Amino acid sequence: MLVLAIESSCDETGAALVDAEGNIFADVVQSQVALHAEYGGVIPELASRDHLRNIGFVVEEAFSKAGRTLADVDGIAVTHRPGLVGALLVGVQVAKGLAWASDKPLVGVDHLVGHLLAVFLRDGGPERARPAFPFVSLLVSGGHTAIYRVDGPSVGEIRELGATRDDAAGEAFDKVGKLLGLGYPGGPVIDRLAATGNDRAVPFKIPVVTEYEFSFSGIKTQVAAHVREHGVPGSPEGMADLCASFQRTVVETLTRKLFAAASKEGVASVVVGGGVAANRGLRARIHAEAEKRGMQAFIPPIAHCTDNAAMIGYAGAMRLVRGERDPWDLVAQSVTALPRTTRKGGGRR
Ligand code: KG4
Ligand code: ZN
Repeated sequence: MLVLAIESSCDETGAALVDAEGNIFADVVQSQVALHAEYGGVIPELASRDHLRNIGFVVEEAFSKAGRTLADVDGIAVTHRPGLVGALLVGVQVAKGLAWASDKPLVGVDHLVGHLLAVFLRDGGPERARPAFPFVSLLVSGGHTAIYRVDGPSVGEIRELGATRDDAAGEAFDKVGKLLGLGYPGGPVIDRLAATGNDRAVPFKIPVVTEYEFSFSGIKTQVAAHVREHGVPGSPEGMADLCASFQRTVVETLTRKLFAAASKEGVASVVVGGGVAANRGLRARIHAEAEKRGMQAFIPPIAHCTDNAAMIGYAGAMRLVRGERDPWDLVAQSVTALPRTTRKGGGRR
């Protein structure tokens, strides 16, 4: 089963060729980060236009890297939710066009399911252990932060245990990065600076919310208050300390809630996915906590944590092998298909 996958939900245009075992034959990602950087965030109209400009080349490059053609493909998978609707539409229309022209089955994939299953991708390197179902997964990206119980690869087998009430963790990294004048996106820069800082230098408080729910707007406010009082650190050491202290607060809240959920659900494995799973502090803390508790932690390599089409291809392959396919009226939607328990702004549903 060879699947062509297309991803265009936010600011990365992706195309990949993968199979139902998670083998990747090509995984091409064209990032728009430079385009949006000067605005300090993703501008939806610019994103759509750039996807449109690049998607043809990205798909062609995936085929050429894999040495395959459309005729070799058994199905086409495309991210159709959640995301920026104008951005999603570009991928959905291209996928429909290719599926129609080649008479291949089409499946829509929920972007969050893609992130949750990215841990099953194989990249041709040394064989890595893969988690067994059920597991509890922390999805931390620029748009989403939630904990899920995952009993299988399809939407009906994934349950949200809790999510953020306000900002996503990646959004907090990006907003703090902006506040400290570190550019966009802030996550990778803060990660790098935090590595040399003292993470107890500034005693930021870990937010108190219900068991599995998160809140990151308070941490951002604490950093803003600190900067108002003391100014943006003038020395590299001061900046490193501030970044390390902020990052520790985020990492602690994510780690504690993930393991509390895993214990309560009685699972042996935890999985992490999404762009913030690239954070070295978070990766180290989760591995250490798993070891302490005699559990297993699975965190995909960084290229599979940030947005990519390979994860969409694998999630799509899981649908295609079950004989599922979507009709031509498949639409782009801004919200996830996964049931949500946390309401933005507070309180359980
Ligand atoms: O999953 P992703 O590529 O796109 C979304 O679906 O949102 O995640 C992007 C987010 C951004 O907020 C970025 O700052 C954050 O992931 N990020 C990081 C790191 N690398 C990316 N945050 C913390 N540490 C990192 N190393
Ligand atoms: Zn994502």
